[in-house]
Amino acid sequence: MFRTRNLHKLIIFILCANLAILILYTQKIYQFERYFAKKEISIQIQTKVNGNCLSVTSRLLPWYFCNGTLLPHISNRRVNLLFNGSLGDRIIEQLMYIPKDYRDKNIILKKVLAYSGLKGWAKNAGRKAFESCPVAGCSLSDDPQDAPNADAILFQNPEDTRFLTQGLDQVWILYLLESPYHTPKLHLYDNIFNWTATYREDSDLVTPYAKWVYYDARVTQKPQGVNYALNKTKKVAWLVSNCKAKNERKEYALELQNHISVDIYGNCGQWSCDQEDMDCFELLKDYKFYLSFENSNCRDYITEKLFRNAFEYNVVPIVMGARKQDYVRSAPSNSFIHVNDFNNPEDLAQYLKRLDQDDDLYNTYFNWKGTGEFINTYFWCRLCALLHSPYSKKWYTNLGEWWAGTGICDIPIRK
Ligand SMILES: *[C@@H]1O[C@H](CO)[C@@H](O)[C@H](O)[C@H]1NC(C)=O
Ligand SMILES: *[C@@H]1O[C@H](CO)[C@@H](O)[C@H](O)[C@H]1NC(C)=O
Ligand SMILES: *[C@@H]1O[C@H](CO)[C@@H](O)[C@H](O)[C@H]1NC(C)=O
Ligand SMILES: *[C@@H]1O[C@H](CO)[C@@H](O)[C@H](O)[C@H]1NC(C)=O
Repeated sequence: MFRTRNLHKLIIFILCANLAILILYTQKIYQFERYFAKKEISIQIQTKVNGNCLSVTSRLLPWYFCNGTLLPHISNRRVNLLFNGSLGDRIIEQLMYIPKDYRDKNIILKKVLAYSGLKGWAKNAGRKAFESCPVAGCSLSDDPQDAPNADAILFQNPEDTRFLTQGLDQVWILYLLESPYHTPKLHLYDNIFNWTATYREDSDLVTPYAKWVYYDARVTQKPQGVNYALNKTKKVAWLVSNCKAKNERKEYALELQNHISVDIYGNCGQWSCDQEDMDCFELLKDYKFYLSFENSNCRDYITEKLFRNAFEYNVVPIVMGARKQDYVRSAPSNSFIHVNDFNNPEDLAQYLKRLDQDDDLYNTYFNWKGTGEFINTYFWCRLCALLHSPYSKKWYTNLGEWWAGTGICDIPIRK
């Protein structure tokens, strides 16, 4: 009797130890991948890469810019704020929308339930999340008991819907942050979700890792009068810890290494950087180029690897991940080099060497600076505005296909 109990304890101990090792290992893999994402999701959603209020402009700017003051007008225009098949991410339209009769009526608050809790969003229950919004008539809850009378329920995990009954007019929203390779299989969840909130342009509430907006769409470049090449003594850097990405980014980097100097930091390379001791990204300042290689080549999947790692450290990003047109749409004009523009790593290396020799050409990759901002896309504000808008009913009849179907990622995903 006594011995069996001890044996049980031993088995449980071994299982727990295994689990702990597994968890530690996965965390290690993702240490660079999600270096900044250690901060809460909410930070990614709210200010993924925020404007920092760096540039000073005298013009009046819309409210979503840093120091912006122009508020939306109430408009009679009937705008379609949900995705309906036409192009454009509708973020600006959503930010600048106030329903026609919004101020006239005694505002009845729309209730939003964050079914997976609010911890990841770093928000509190109540009205605070909507405080500074043009359309602020919403309240937030994290109490599952509120499900029956919520106007909208936000799910981070599709499975959480299993034991809930959907109210007739309720909006069920699925939020996804990772690429289709790293999200649950969604083909079991058809005819459940009404809206999607993801980085994909064809979502209803588009939540990109960052959104670049020009102050004036006609001015996308301006000379900086700075030689960014000046203090840079090294060529290409890569900070990476997951060596086994599906898109074979490591193989590409190793081949590039045969033609130009590439310093690989982390599990997959010869250099290490202890994140306990320093901000590893500070290292980038010595380099001319940075491999902003995503772990998946999927439509619109562009993460902080570009927006933070590269742009914040004045290093020219070489990108692999989403399609070229996705980068063109999301990133400032002439701010990156896409691997698909070259036949192979050798051709890319030739071009990098040319840039290395020609400071003027190299510096053109920084001429976007000061022409706009990475705006806060105010997820909660847009959600609230949408809930007060006269939306038509909709739902995703083929969610798995929409998220991970043919053509979404380079390498097909098994269902
Ligand atoms: C925002 O306002 C502050 C205070 O007036 C000012 O110091 C800062 O430069 C401004 N930033 C922008 C982007 O205008
Ligand atoms: C989608 O919405 C846009 C913007 O309101 C509208 O111009 C377009 O006609 C709509 N398309 C469909 C197919 O409903
Ligand atoms: C280069 O280094 C000098 C001295 O540390 C510094 O003053 C200057 O701002 C740097 N230039 C650039 C473009 O980073
Ligand atoms: C949400 O989708 C369900 C089907 O899954 C549908 O019955 C319901 O009417 C939809 N609600 C809205 C507000 O679109």
